[in-house]
Amino acid sequence: MKSTIHVAAAALAASLLATHAAAQETGNAEAGKAKAALCAACHGPNGISINPLWPSLAGQQPVYLAKQIRAFRDGERVEPTMQPFVVNLTDQDVEDIAAYYATLSPCP
Ligand code: HEC
Repeated sequence: MKSTIHVAAAALAASLLATHAAAQETGNAEAGKAKAALCAACHGPNGISINPLWPSLAGQQPVYLAKQIRAFRDGERVEPTMQPFVVNLTDQDVEDIAAYYATLSPCP
């Protein structure tokens, strides 16, 4: 029984790592930089926000960023000020933007 759990845990860890690696390969940070131009108005030119109500995105995990951007776009996460900026993004745009913010240095 114990070894079954270990095998299951190892398999889960391996699949999580695989998902992570795959997601990182799909985004193009260079393309994402141009696509994130509008986002800078609130999230800052370097992904560091100066308004306490707007989160900093610099250095965040790309998989998490992509998940949140899609959630705003698809209306699963509701933020009326955000949605107009993400509503027309394609899945590729989302991956590129997420890859771009992930390359920036986080808040000191
Ligand atoms: C008008 C200001 C504004 C603009 C422009 C804007 N956002 Fe946001 N964004 C917000 C606010 C406010 C939140 C926090 C929402 C909340 O409190 O749930 C947010 C949250 C987020 C989050 C979630 C962060 C987290 O830690 O969960 C992501 C990702 C994000 N924005 C990406 C973007 C992207 C990509 C763009 C451009 C396509 C963009 N935003 C444009 C205001 C903005």
